[in-house]
Amino acid sequence: MADRIIVTGGAGYIGSHVCVDLLSAGKSLLIIDDFSNSSPEAVRRIQELAEGDIRLLKSDLADPAQRERIIDAARDFRAQGAIHLAGLKAVGESVTEPERYYRVNLGSALTLIDALKATGGKLIVFSSSATVYGDRNKSPVDETGLLGPTNPYGRTKYFIEEMLRDLHVSDPGWKIANLRYFNPVGAHPSGRIGEDPNGVPNNLFPYIAQVAVGRREKLRVFGDDYDTRDGTGVRDFIHVCDLARGHRAALDHLAREKAPGVVDVNLGTGLGYSVLEAVAAFKRASNRDIPYEIAPRREGDIAEIYANPSKAKALLGWTAEKSLDDMCADHWRWQRENPTGYGE
Ligand code: UFG
Repeated sequence: MADRIIVTGGAGYIGSHVCVDLLSAGKSLLIIDDFSNSSPEAVRRIQELAEGDIRLLKSDLADPAQRERIIDAARDFRAQGAIHLAGLKAVGESVTEPERYYRVNLGSALTLIDALKATGGKLIVFSSSATVYGDRNKSPVDETGLLGPTNPYGRTKYFIEEMLRDLHVSDPGWKIANLRYFNPVGAHPSGRIGEDPNGVPNNLFPYIAQVAVGRREKLRVFGDDYDTRDGTGVRDFIHVCDLARGHRAALDHLAREKAPGVVDVNLGTGLGYSVLEAVAAFKRASNRDIPYEIAPRREGDIAEIYANPSKAKALLGWTAEKSLDDMCADHWRWQRENPTGYGE
């Protein structure tokens, strides 16, 4: 069993839910986070939700000046593996600042590999994305789908997957899981941790939630002329707590696997819901009006993508359990009880 785990980006939206899940399962954690898009308050609340052993290292994995410090901390912690979530993740920003995306995302992954090499813990669960599939596949998409990300952010995910594959070729002792997330939404049912985006949200759920709570006037629905049920985009929304459990399932799978290797696994529900269906569900859950207007299509969006999640079930014994209504109810509780997120 791998019980001493580094979680990079552990204070972030997905990371905080992963940490609560792993601590509840008895793992010890070293969180490495630079708080560039997260808050120390999230770490405090992780500790409030789950007992257990947490160390925190405030460090930027992409900064060469901090590399030795990170390696020392990993060695001192005697890490047996890592869940790697740290990185930049805004698609639009990656188009205007590609070098920053490559430097930060690839550089962070390389530093983590160095840190694990120093401890001998050759196990990585990587936060990849369905975005690696690009727009070339018919849904449901399985892991043999054609790869072709359409923006620099997506290419960093793709390149890191490939880098980890090469690492395994160089030393077959490495065990790697590339987890391809669909659209993570929702929050912990306690309402204590959730998504706290900087500035104007790019993604659908945080935007809807801010409209429902009165922080923004109305949602813009990007396109109603797609070839889908109601003309709006269709996505595979997955509850962040289901997603977190998927990381633990992947970690346990790698730890017990006798023939190590690289596995690529979709984490999705297998169900596609349209933007307007998501709006209607959120309206029901919050009992608030969600005014919206139809706007032009957003550049780079595709009409429809949802997962074939059967490999996760067969390999990891994992399936998503929470419904769209659960996702909306939990996302709304978090938003209502923390209208400005974690605050200053
Ligand atoms: N949408 C709106 N209005 C908004 C925001 C989004 O109508 O204000 C629509 C989009 O056009 C799309 C759907 O809601 O049809 C979902 O959009 P998101 O931005 O929430 O999610 P994406 O599917 O575009 O992107 C997500 C992640 C990315 C990842 C991608 C991979 O946010 O990090 O999935 O598929 F790369």
